[in-house]
Amino acid sequence: MVMIEPVTIQKGLDIDAIRRQFPILNREVEGKTLVYFDNAATSQKPQSVIDALVNYYTHYNANVHRGNHTLADEATRAMERSRDAAREFINAEAREQIIFTRGTTEGINLVASTWGRQNVKAGDEIIVSNIEHHSNIVPWQILIEEKGAVLKVIPVNEKGELIIEEYKKLLSPKTKLVAVNHASNALGTINPVNEIIDAAHEAGAVVLIDGAQSTVHLNIDVQAMDCDFFAFSSHKMYGPTGVGVLYGKRELLESMPPFQGGGEMIKEVTFEKTTYNDLPYKYEAGTPNIADIIAFKAAIDFVNELGKKNIKQYEDDLLQYGTNQLKQIPGLRIVGEAKEKVSVISFIVEGKSAYDMGLLLDGAGIAVRTGHHCCQPLMNRFGIPGTIRASFGVYNTKGEIDRLVSSLKGILRRNA
Ligand SMILES: Cc1ncc(COP(=O)(O)O)c(C=O)c1O
Repeated sequence: MVMIEPVTIQKGLDIDAIRRQFPILNREVEGKTLVYFDNAATSQKPQSVIDALVNYYTHYNANVHRGNHTLADEATRAMERSRDAAREFINAEAREQIIFTRGTTEGINLVASTWGRQNVKAGDEIIVSNIEHHSNIVPWQILIEEKGAVLKVIPVNEKGELIIEEYKKLLSPKTKLVAVNHASNALGTINPVNEIIDAAHEAGAVVLIDGAQSTVHLNIDVQAMDCDFFAFSSHKMYGPTGVGVLYGKRELLESMPPFQGGGEMIKEVTFEKTTYNDLPYKYEAGTPNIADIIAFKAAIDFVNELGKKNIKQYEDDLLQYGTNQLKQIPGLRIVGEAKEKVSVISFIVEGKSAYDMGLLLDGAGIAVRTGHHCCQPLMNRFGIPGTIRASFGVYNTKGEIDRLVSSLKGILRRNA
């Protein structure tokens, strides 16, 4: 008898159906259908996320954790369901390790002002990289200034990749913390975080990974990665603004002092002594951003339904197509051609201001970001004031890339 092997059919994404979930994609800018290529700054939101927000305010708006009435109970349970979804999304061991923050920036600041203040002393070293967003530089500068510690920087090569041999030379018994991003917002480079983390741990250092740009594109498993802290933002992964997650290893979160004082983060308060709440609430002082946290779960569900693998495959195709098409334009140079990239293309056009190009593209209905992308040290490394950045999400298409390319050609022809 002939055995017939089951055929695995690769599930492709139905991009038209995905686009229909994003009402904003129907709007026009300057009389033309919007092309939104500013996803690395913030992504657009599907109807399910918008509905979750409206539903909360329409049906069960109440403060969480403190009430014994129906609405308070419904709101609390919905918010805690988001925590469970976030735990699963990054494969944290326990829900107590998911701290809700305002975003990546707040997560990093939380670690700097709690773990950092507790553990960093004069003469200690903190390593960041030349490819970091300001939010993964400045909190450490504030800390080292206060403590008399030292900042060390992993250099970047011409392609926009971290020079790992140089990183390893920076590690020493003085290294207390290594803080790097998983993917760069300015160039799209995916950093070899596993290697970075292993080397840091060998040197006895703690590692914080800034996942602002990776969480929407790559599979995240914080246990396999073995990072000590991982911070990300909901709004870059189709969720609402004002919500993020800080993951931390339990023993670190247990041993750190609180970030802010107030309601929710306490067990008991007297004028003589206050005791602090258990994880995760110890780090969540005050009324949280309930509506957005609840709607964040709808964004996680949206990404899970599509599947990270399918999203990455589709976006890789856009990245490759966009890179090839843009390279055909005379005078255009792509900044950042790392081997491993998320769907971000940064470029400059000889003799043209990035800012002006951005305005002219807006006139063609195309939203790109221009400037230093909150990465001034990286721009200094390349000797440029800024770039034009097109960053793709799962609803973008090759047709939209064609519009970017033809608009750029038209602008350059008219402004020759
Ligand atoms: C790599 C990276 N880190 C951190 C941040 C800060 O994120 P948020 O503004 O959501 O706090 C961003 C935002 O662009 C980013 O791209």
